[in-house]
Amino acid sequence: MTRVFSGIKPTGNVHLGNLLGALVHWVDDQHRAESTYCVVDLHALTVPQDPAELRATSMRLAQILLAVGLDPEVCTLFVQSHLTEHTELTWLMECTASYGELSRMTQFKDKSDKAAFVSGGLFTYPALMAADILVHDTDEVPVGDDQRQHVELTRDIAERFNSRYGTTFVVPRATYPPAGARVMDLQDPTSKMSKSEDTASGTILFDDDPTVIERKFKRAVTDNDAEVRFDVAAKPGVSNLLSILGAATGRTPEQAAEGYTQYGPLKADAAAAVIELLGPMQARFAELTADPGETARLLAAGAAKAREVASTTVTRAKANIGLLPSSSA
Ligand code: AMP
Ligand code: TRP
Repeated sequence: MTRVFSGIKPTGNVHLGNLLGALVHWVDDQHRAESTYCVVDLHALTVPQDPAELRATSMRLAQILLAVGLDPEVCTLFVQSHLTEHTELTWLMECTASYGELSRMTQFKDKSDKAAFVSGGLFTYPALMAADILVHDTDEVPVGDDQRQHVELTRDIAERFNSRYGTTFVVPRATYPPAGARVMDLQDPTSKMSKSEDTASGTILFDDDPTVIERKFKRAVTDNDAEVRFDVAAKPGVSNLLSILGAATGRTPEQAAEGYTQYGPLKADAAAAVIELLGPMQARFAELTADPGETARLLAAGAAKAREVASTTVTRAKANIGLLPSSSA
């Protein structure tokens, strides 16, 4: 069976872009593939974090993943730092990736240009991501566009390791969410909805209540020609509303456009569809937060399940690269 792996960082708040662009597809994938999902807390450490906040955000993200429908009976859900195999394999990845390859990562260039403090971890981050993927014998990695280059590097590292030391890793490939799954900011529909932006009124957050959601959609930027049509270049705002309405109701944006002649009803229906999608998730989230012990138990079980494949992969990689076994057993 195809093995799927993906990770999400516990930083900031989960928003509608994460949900429609990634998480709802993870939920679908768990039924067609052997799926493993990870709260990648070690990746959050590339920039300084407040310890108490990191702990709280990691727990909250795990609860959101459960609330949106990842079922620990069906998929494997765990927290990255609970598996030492990820960091153990990272060193082998760092020694297989070249300095030149790591220097060419566009995300490193973007982030290091902006940051006051550039950690060594920010530079070697793609080696940790390669370890995340390869340690689970992954075939498919669902990711957004911005992670494409990191998955390409992961493939190169896997192929280089396999050719130097003998077949060790499955060579994975990136998969992308269906077109139209890119959710744009409601106030600035030419940029992606994101958790770090300060355009609060353009971002729908996981825990926004119905009144807030209605208000944000009502104020969404459209245009003046009052024609409802899916055309991302000419009509970015309206097209974004159609993408959201379509994605939230299982239709294409073109199908979602049918029957609308005015922006008011389109905005109201997009808001209603999002409220209907989020409502049950928010209710499950509230139940989960009432019993954090239960989430901790599920995450421990997830880590134990994930470790079965991960420890075998690390043992194989260490043996193939020539590290001496630690016991004769
Ligand atoms: P990030 O929030 O950038 O850490 O991304 C976590 C996941 O959500 C990745 O798979 C992204 O591709 C996806 N994602 C983030 N923002 C959006 C967006 N505006 N539209 C669609 N997918 C998104
Ligand atoms: N780097 C990814 C991001 O910023 C998160 C991530 C870490 C990831 N490890 C991964 C995604 C492994 C897919 C597979 O979104």
